[in-house]
Amino acid sequence: MLFKIAVLASGGGTNLQSIIDSIDNGSLNCKIEMVIGSKEGIYALERAKIKGIKSYIISKEKYGNKTSDKILELTKGKVDLIVLAGYLSILEGNLLKEFKDKIINIHPSLIPSFCGDGFYGEKVHQAVIDYGAKVSGATVHFVNEEADAGPIIMQDTVKVMDDDDAKTLAKRVLEVEHTILP
Ligand code: GRF
Repeated sequence: MLFKIAVLASGGGTNLQSIIDSIDNGSLNCKIEMVIGSKEGIYALERAKIKGIKSYIISKEKYGNKTSDKILELTKGKVDLIVLAGYLSILEGNLLKEFKDKIINIHPSLIPSFCGDGFYGEKVHQAVIDYGAKVSGATVHFVNEEADAGPIIMQDTVKVMDDDDAKTLAKRVLEVEHTILP
């Protein structure tokens, strides 16, 4: 029975693409059953469409505090794992119970540094640079009710260069994300 995953995204979907590419080159043996976007018009949904992967848009605007329940409705009994790939909403309620230890997330820093509330996207990398950290990286971890706090699965590092800004560091960390998430 093929291992089935749902991928949740909020942005360009380069982490989704790294999963698609790993399946296509045979290094990842699973099926992307569905992609769930957190809003219209994100390129992650285009990447799904190109590959003929079923996709849904579950936005906080439309579903409010029912967002996690709606995601559970779509995924319950359909997938073995939920993968948050650049997904920016916090999941809660029964979804976390029914998929305990079956939701993973990629965070663009070395947890427990530079993570938790307010640390997402470029803010993470700006904080790394402002602090003067010499090493950063990315973390894949299990998701629980706190942001970026579940057990760590895999990490890898990048050097922070003296002339880095948030954009150049983000680009280097994104390459690590694309290798450790698959
Ligand atoms: C990545 O830095 C990811 O870690 C963060 O969102 C950024 C964009 O991810 N959560 P993607 O290109 O949409 O996969």
